[in-house]
Amino acid sequence: MQGKTVMVTGGTAGIGRETARGLALLGARVIIVGRNPDRARAAAAALTAATGAEVTPLIADLSSLDGLRGLAARFAEEHDRLDVLVNNAGGMTPERRLTGDGVEFTFAVNVLAPYALTCLLLPRLRAADAARVVNLTGGLPDGTIDPANLQAEKRFLGWTFAHYNQAKTALMAMSRSFAERLDGDGITVNVAYPGHAYTPGNQATPARAFPYLFRPVMPLLKLVGPLLLSDLAKSARSSVHLASSPDVAGRTALYVDARSRIATWPKGALDPEAQNAVWSLCRSLTTLTP
Ligand SMILES: NC(=O)c1ccc[n+]([C@@H]2O[C@H](COP(=O)([O-])OP(=O)(O)OC[C@H]3O[C@@H](n4cnc5c(N)ncnc54)[C@H](OP(=O)(O)O)[C@@H]3O)[C@@H](O)[C@H]2O)c1
Repeated sequence: MQGKTVMVTGGTAGIGRETARGLALLGARVIIVGRNPDRARAAAAALTAATGAEVTPLIADLSSLDGLRGLAARFAEEHDRLDVLVNNAGGMTPERRLTGDGVEFTFAVNVLAPYALTCLLLPRLRAADAARVVNLTGGLPDGTIDPANLQAEKRFLGWTFAHYNQAKTALMAMSRSFAERLDGDGITVNVAYPGHAYTPGNQATPARAFPYLFRPVMPLLKLVGPLLLSDLAKSARSSVHLASSPDVAGRTALYVDARSRIATWPKGALDPEAQNAVWSLCRSLTTLTP
């Protein structure tokens, strides 16, 4: 990764920070994106000290279209090409919530932000030699996508993770469409499953976001979580692999599991009607197209 420029969203904490560390250790110049300027500056300084690589912070709220546009513009001012974009940041809410743009939050952060940021950074990705885009899925992305409920317009099943699961399946559907559209452009688009990790995101998830049956054992999960799921480097492996390994050079539309093995795409993400619905919604909400 010597000489390569990489952007990792959500790179100031959790799995994204470990992904940034992994790629910096391979010699990449890494830009980490987070919302909180102090956390971002501290993370960049710590990663630079730990890896000897150039790690710099950029601040943006990825749930906001203005935030995404500002991020891409600031990146483009300082860099003439982007070799790897890791759309790592994700999230969920226990209740249906809208962003300032009026987009349902889970869809905005997990699906719309990767779509918009990839579109906005395409000129810089095209300027690189064989650029890679890596999108992170999660939850149980093996259900169906309801095209009429992408923003939980009909119902929001936060407490079963159903909406988060659907958003991650929709991200995968969008990633497949993106890979097909960029095929022949020299840019690959692949999806990584990180596996479970004890991160700020899931530490902050309130009990009411969990299925009822889980709630009584929540205190136990809080106790064992740090013991069993603290090795974030394990959860960053699949992203680092797709971002850097020569084994996947030039290969697009791959889905890899937490051990970086090629996995079968969930049926829901391959459904043409669902792919079209997700793509159309992303295009109309952002007015961006690759
Ligand atoms: N953790 C798991 O068990 C697990 C399992 C499967 C899949 N995943 C997926 O893996 C990815 C990383 O998960 P994680 O648990 O490491 O996440 P996390 O703990 O929530 O990650 C925190 C990082 O994301 C940034 N971030 C969150 N929302 C943002 C926003 N709206 N704008 C800009 N930055 C934002 C934070 O920035 P600040 O410092 O500003 O807060 C921080 O850098 C996500 O896509 C998640 O869905 C996680």
